[in-house]
Order: sequence, then structure tokens, then C-alpha cells
Amino acid sequence: MELLKCGIIGAGILGKIHLKACLQYPYAKPVAVCDINQERANEAAEEFNLKAYTDYREMLHKTELDIIHVVTPDFAHRDPVITSLEAEKHVICEKPMATTMDDAKAIVKAVKKSGCRLMVNFSNRWNVPHHNTKKAILDGELGELKHAYARLSNTTYVPKQMLSWSDKSSPTMFLLPHMIDLVRWFFMSEAETVYASKTEGVLKSMGIDTHDTMTALVNFKNGAAACFETSWILPESLPYIVDHYVKLIGSKGITYLDMTQHVLRKYGDKAEYTRNPETIFGYSRGFPYDSIYHFLECIINDRNPISNEIDGLMNTAVLCAIIESADTGKDVRIQI
Ligand SMILES: NC(=O)c1ccc[n+]([C@@H]2O[C@H](COP(=O)([O-])OP(=O)(O)OC[C@H]3O[C@@H](n4cnc5c(N)ncnc54)[C@H](O)[C@@H]3O)[C@@H](O)[C@H]2O)c1
Repeated sequence: MELLKCGIIGAGILGKIHLKACLQYPYAKPVAVCDINQERANEAAEEFNLKAYTDYREMLHKTELDIIHVVTPDFAHRDPVITSLEAEKHVICEKPMATTMDDAKAIVKAVKKSGCRLMVNFSNRWNVPHHNTKKAILDGELGELKHAYARLSNTTYVPKQMLSWSDKSSPTMFLLPHMIDLVRWFFMSEAETVYASKTEGVLKSMGIDTHDTMTALVNFKNGAAACFETSWILPESLPYIVDHYVKLIGSKGITYLDMTQHVLRKYGDKAEYTRNPETIFGYSRGFPYDSIYHFLECIINDRNPISNEIDGLMNTAVLCAIIESADTGKDVRIQI
């Protein structure tokens, strides 16, 4: 069987995960990488033995590829996604699919025109406790879902050091796509109205022009309600950079998912706290890889991925409504 040839646009933190996933997956291989930062492109090309580009159009033109992974910053997905679709490539795009409705609609249109497949990498659907929750919902164990509380936050390490573009994004755009997608996937219903409130000042005092926290109340068409919370200002003294918690209340049951505590606590001469290893026997593992394997499998088997451009569009609609409500102080009705 011929291996799927993968090209990666954006060779940053997540780009490296996509590259490793393609390398580890038995029926695919990374072939080319593109980053506008020449040094990053060269470094990834050397590590994975690929051809390096700084212009994705040139990469699409000069290299034979089956699949494109768009792993550029949140606000920079539209052009590489649409250009890759126009070149008749299947695309896996990082979350959020888009940060404006204009971009989201243009991507949906381009997918339809191309006849290619697009997956939005809402990788938390592959996070095992979330997957098990979805199964419990489908099996009727929780009854009719009534309420969700979903929180995903980071310490200041993320906006201060990890991302060079944090002032062009926000905890809302960077983190809430995961939570909004999960709750919509659990509820199996679309969001209808949003009321949101933000706080700011801490990051701005550090020279990062974005809000600190967002709290959003979202009503869904099935009558259920969800409260979303995100923050980028948790202290760096925490033993983890991600704070992740989800609670679901149904007519027959409740689930609590404390996703932060994937830890080993060891008490000997000293107390030790380690997160579950991301590598065992040199093999990178876990849901960030499983979601990418799912896309590769779908392309090989000519199937639709479980999170597509419509999931991306609905997700962006809620994100934009949250920002609008927090900016105006008004309820916002979701419109597509
Ligand atoms: N699925 C997840 O769990 C998850 C987790 C973290 C980040 N992400 C998403 O992945 C995306 C990338 O995040 P990251 O942390 O890797 O950021 P990053 O800054 O580490 O990497 C982004 C790279 O894209 C490059 N780039 C920007 N514009 C480009 C262009 N036009 N052509 C080629 N390269 C370009 C940058 O130079 C940079 O090297 C974001 O959308 C982010 O939200 C997803």
C-alpha cells in the first residue's frame, strides 16, 4: 500500500505533534514542512528528514502531497486551508477552524467546492474520559442532559512564553474551542443564545493586549444550559500549565471529569508530582496523536472524520458570540 504523503504548514509546537503522528502512523509519512520562519522550517526538516519551505503555495506546487495539516496560529488558518483545498488536498486544520464567521464560511464553501475532506482537530473528543462520557450519554446512562460546566485555563506561561502571538488571540479563542465543541458534542444540540463577561488588566499590564478571563452562559436549543470558563492568568507556581474540568448534569446522572489530575504522586524522601508521561518506550502517545490518526484512517478508508467543517463553523459562531457579548454587555443570539 502506498503511504499517504503529508505536508505540514506551521512547524511550531503543534506542528511537531502532527509531524510525529504522521511518522508514527504506519500508512503515512511526512514529506514536506512549511513555516514562514526559515529557521523553524529548517529545524523541523532536519529532524524529520523532509523538504523545507517558507511559502506553502510553493510547497503545494512543488511537492506531491495527499494531505495538508494546517497548524498555523489561531487567526491564520483561512488562507492555507483554502489554498490547500483548491489544490485538491484533504486538510486537517487545528482548532479553532476560524476566528471570524467570514473566515469560517469561506472555509465551508471551499470544502464544498473542492470535494475534499476537512477535519477540525477537536482533539479532546479523543481524550479517553471525554470519549467514555460520550458513550455513557449515547447509552442513556445520564438521561436527558440539562447542564454543563466546562473550564479550561492556563497559567501565564502560555500567553507569556509559549505563544509568540498571544496578543492576537485570547484564552477564549485558544482554549474555549475545545470546551464548546465538547459540550455541543455531548448535548447533540446547537447553541442558541450567549451571555458573556470578561475581565482584563493582568495580561495588559505585562504588555499582552488580550483579556484575562472569560465566563459565558450558553443556552442550547434542546433546553440545556452550559457555563464556560477560561483564564490565562493562573499562577506559574501550579504544578501544571492546564487546568481542565468538566461537569455534566443529566436527568439520571452526573459526571465529574477532573482532567487536570492525570498525575502520579510519589512520597519518599521528597514529595513528587508527575503528569502521565507523554512518551513511553520512545513512542509519543495520547489523544493529541489519536485524533490525527483518526483523520489519516478516514482518508485511507474514504470516510468522513467525526469533526468536520460544520463542527468548525458552529464552534466559531459560539466563540464570536461570546466575544461580542463580552464586548457589548448584551445577550447575543447565534446566527449563521
Ligand atoms: N488541538 C490541540 O489540542 C491544540 C493545542 C495547542 C495548540 N493548538 C492549535 O494549533 C495551532 C498552532 O499552535 P502552536 O502552539 O503550534 O503555535 P506556534 O506558534 O508554536 O506555531 C505556529 C507556527 O506557524 C508558523 N506560521 C504562521 N503563519 C504561517 C504561514 N502563513 N505559513 C507557514 N507557517 C506559518 C509560525 O511561524 C509558527 O512557527 C493554533 O491554532 C492552536 O490553537 C491546538
